[in-house]
Amino acid sequence: MKIGVEAMACHIPRHYVGLDDLADLRGVDRRKFSSGLDVQNMAIATPAEDAVYLAATAAEKVLEKFDIDPNDIGAVVVGTETGVDHSKPIAVYLHEALSLRTNCTAFEVKHACFGASAGLSWAVDWIASGRARGSKALVVATDIARYGLETAGEPTQGAGAVAMVVSDEPRLLSLEPALVGEYTRNVMDFWRPLHRSEALTDGHYSIECYLTALRACIDDAGPDLPSVEDFDACLYHVPFPKMALKAHSCHRSAEIGSDTARTDAERASYETRVAPWLSLNREIGNVYTGSVYLALLDLLRQGQVPDGGTVSLFSYGSGCTASLRVGQLVDGYHRYADRLDPADQLAARVRLTIEEYEELMSEPGSQGLADWQTHPEAWGLPASRFTYLGTKSHVRQYVGI
Ligand code: HMG
Repeated sequence: MKIGVEAMACHIPRHYVGLDDLADLRGVDRRKFSSGLDVQNMAIATPAEDAVYLAATAAEKVLEKFDIDPNDIGAVVVGTETGVDHSKPIAVYLHEALSLRTNCTAFEVKHACFGASAGLSWAVDWIASGRARGSKALVVATDIARYGLETAGEPTQGAGAVAMVVSDEPRLLSLEPALVGEYTRNVMDFWRPLHRSEALTDGHYSIECYLTALRACIDDAGPDLPSVEDFDACLYHVPFPKMALKAHSCHRSAEIGSDTARTDAERASYETRVAPWLSLNREIGNVYTGSVYLALLDLLRQGQVPDGGTVSLFSYGSGCTASLRVGQLVDGYHRYADRLDPADQLAARVRLTIEEYEELMSEPGSQGLADWQTHPEAWGLPASRFTYLGTKSHVRQYVGI
C-alpha cells in the first residue's frame, strides 16, 4: 500500500514587505538580505489573519481544489507554534469550519517548526496501521513568524499555512514509511516564552544546531538512504532560503566526508536539486512549520521532476528535533500543477510601506483582553470566511465558525 500526500494547498496573508525597503530603513546593505539571506519579500499577517484563519482557508482550499469529500476526513492535525489558546487546539476550529463528521480525531502538535512533520508522520502511521479504516487525514501547518522590529531575525519573518490531505491514494507524493532519520537534543537556539508574541533566538547558534541535526539524521537513516546525488530534489526546512544552500552543502559534505569550500560540483548540485523550489519561500518568508512543505508545493506546481522522482524532506524544529524522510513523486503528479499554483494569491498581494509595516507590527493584539475587535477594513481586507473578528468575553470570534 502506498501512503502519502494526495492533495495540497496554501494560504498566504494579503500583505507583504519588500526586503529592499526594510534594508533601506535599517541602513543595511540591500545585498545582505537579497544575497546573504537570499530573501526578497515577506508576508505580514494583519490581526484579522490569525493562525486559525490561515489554516481554515488553506484547508478549505485543499478540499475544494482536489474534490475531496469532507466526509472522507477522519483526522485533523494542526502543526503550529502560533497557537491561539493554551488549551483549545486550532484543529477543533477547523473541524467546525469545514463541517467535518464527528467520528473524527483532532489535535494540535507543537514543536517549533517541526509540528506539521510530526503530524504528517502520525498520519502515515495511522493509515498504515489500519486504524484509519479508509479515511484520510487533513494535516495543516499554520504559523506567523515574528521576531520583532530591529532584531537580527526581522528579515526572516513571514506567515502562511499549508494544508495536505494524507491518504492511501496519494496523487502527489508517496512517503517511505520506515526510511527515516531522527534526532533530538535540548538546545536553547530559538524559543518563545508564554507571555511573548515574538520569538527569541540565538541566531548563529540556531544555524549550527540545524546543521548538526541534519548530519545526525543522515547518520540515523542508515545505509538505505539514497546518496544525495541520487535524489531528484532535496527539500530542507527554509527559515530563509540561504539556509537551504548551507544545508545542501552540509548534506553533501556529510556524505563525501569533508567540509571543503563550495566547489563547482556542489553549486551545480544545489542549482539542480534545491534552488528551483525556493521561489515561494523567497516571496513569503519563514512560515515556520510549513516552510519545507512550501518548497514541496513549489516543486509540485512546477512539475519539472519526472514521475517517480525521489525527494528528500528534512524538517527541523528548534529546541530541537529533526527528521529526514524520503518520498517519491507519484505518476501523473504534474497534472495537478494548476490546482497547486498560488500565483493568483501572490499577484493579489498588497505591498506595505515601511510605515504601515511598523504600525502593523506594533498593534497590541488581544492578549489578556476579554473584549477586543480586529479592524480588517482598515487594512483593505473584506471580512471573508474565517476572518478573525476579535474576542467577546474571552471567546474568539470568526466569520463562519
Ligand atoms: P545576522 O547576524 O544579522 O547576519 O543574522 P549575518 O551577519 O550572519 O549575515 C547573514 C549573511 O549575509 C551572511 O552570509 C553574511 O556573510 C551575508 P553567510 O556567511 O552566512 O553565508 N552578508 C552579506 N552578503 C552580501 N552583501 C553584504 C552582506 N552582509 C552580510 N553586504 C540570522 C542572520 C539568520 C542569524 C538572523 O537573521 C536570525 O537570527 N534569524 C532567525 C533565526 C534563524 O532563522 N535561524 C535559522 C536556523 S534555526 C531554524 O531554522 C528554526 C526556526 O525556523 C524556528 C523554529 O524551528 O520554529 C528559526
